[in-house]
Amino acid sequence: MGRQNLRPSYIEEGTEEARRQREAIARLKERGDAPATYYIVTMGCQMNAHDSEKLVGILEEIGAVASEKEEEADLVIYNTCCVRENAEQKVYGRLGYLKSFKKKNPRMKIALCGCMMQEKLVLNKLLKSYPQVDLIFGTHNLYRFPELLETLLDSQGRVIDIWEDKQEIVEDLPSIRKYPFKASVNIMYGCDNFCTYCIVPYVRGRERSRRPENILAEVRSLVADGVKEIQLLGQNVNSYGKNLENPITFAELLEQVNAIPGLERIRFMTSHPKDLSPELIAAMGRLDKVCPHFHLPLQSGSDRLLRAMNRHYDQAHYLDMVKRLREAVPDISLTTDIIVGFPGETREDFLETLNVVEKVRFDNAFTFIYSRREGTPAAQMPQVPAEESKRNFEELLAALSRIGYENNQKWVGRTVWVLPEETSKNDASMLSGRTAHNQLVHFTGGRHLLGQLTPVTITEATAFYMTGVLEEEAVRE
Ligand code: 5AD
Ligand code: SF4
Repeated sequence: MGRQNLRPSYIEEGTEEARRQREAIARLKERGDAPATYYIVTMGCQMNAHDSEKLVGILEEIGAVASEKEEEADLVIYNTCCVRENAEQKVYGRLGYLKSFKKKNPRMKIALCGCMMQEKLVLNKLLKSYPQVDLIFGTHNLYRFPELLETLLDSQGRVIDIWEDKQEIVEDLPSIRKYPFKASVNIMYGCDNFCTYCIVPYVRGRERSRRPENILAEVRSLVADGVKEIQLLGQNVNSYGKNLENPITFAELLEQVNAIPGLERIRFMTSHPKDLSPELIAAMGRLDKVCPHFHLPLQSGSDRLLRAMNRHYDQAHYLDMVKRLREAVPDISLTTDIIVGFPGETREDFLETLNVVEKVRFDNAFTFIYSRREGTPAAQMPQVPAEESKRNFEELLAALSRIGYENNQKWVGRTVWVLPEETSKNDASMLSGRTAHNQLVHFTGGRHLLGQLTPVTITEATAFYMTGVLEEEAVRE
């Protein structure tokens, strides 16, 4: 895996490229042998989820429909993640499973894309031992999917297209949103941080930001299309805009997005504590559409491990950021990412993590047992025994769920605004959605409320979700 330090002098949204892809889509629509059904499996983070929306957009545009069953689909796509090893094992397992179905259904094509494809070892293994895979592409050329699909249909063999890195940003392709009223928008790609455990910088390439005018145009057109909630996505949004021809900060971008009429809620992910600026904290307090929720990955509470992880902050800095965020937005909800079992982690290191968890009292956390990723610096460090990490991990989960439960109790009796997203599978009058603080709420309403900001009075809370009633009912009682 080559670590390159190419810096873009400027970034252009490739309209010429987008035009070529649209032409390929038009040709695919005309031919009779394009896939009629598809089944897509998305692993990993929000970025991948958003990439899958783009793939689905293209497939629906050429007339393909989602297949209920993976085994019966003409095109099966795995959009993979390589952050942890078990997600990779799952892909190999599924490929084995699909092999027999492919024999029965000769129309079936299998495509793989996403971060795993950017790993040379993985690619070699797939080429050598998994002949059932027909199409492989990576993270830098996802936008070429229409042309690649065409090539696949024209050729007898398999099609492989992986690029090491890409500075240009190509957008403006059809994408299908999972929800009509909320959408994600990429503001930057790649990561330059090289945390020692993480493979992302190697597979997603160097950090590059989209121009603000392109982001704003996309948000405006989404809002015109009925979107109320936007999530801005990047691996490290706090360093947004630094390398643009006309540099701009993330706080300035938020300010401009906040000014878009008709937009109701703005969320963003992910922030690195080392780059969290006073300017952004002030913007959080000032901008009315920015949700009072901040996801601030801690990873570890131990200064020694934070150094070994190459995180560029210590526990005191992290706690200071939390204090400032709470001063700016008093009831802000805080969520985090934590890794247990990083190489060399002792019980004392782990207790420092627990110490931060108790001090901050996170509303929610994504917790991970360290997974050794070949090619990263931490893979060469002395690993810790799995049983020890497992025990610490359980202890961490117990602390987080106790704190989550206690935090959520404070909402009981309060009325909150929920954006209902889905009806329950078993009961169409049961809706679920999220509050501005990003808590999951279930309540009885009706389909007509989907996508409408709705006042709900919380009646009960568990560690992970809350239940409530429509405010009118609460008032009537
Ligand atoms: N092992 C475990 N967790 C990891 N993460 C990233 N790399 C690894 C790894 N090798 C976690 C970090 C990051 C989140 C997206 O995934 O906590 O914030
Ligand atoms: Fe990985 Fe660190 Fe970049 Fe996040 S900031 S993607 S953890 S290298």
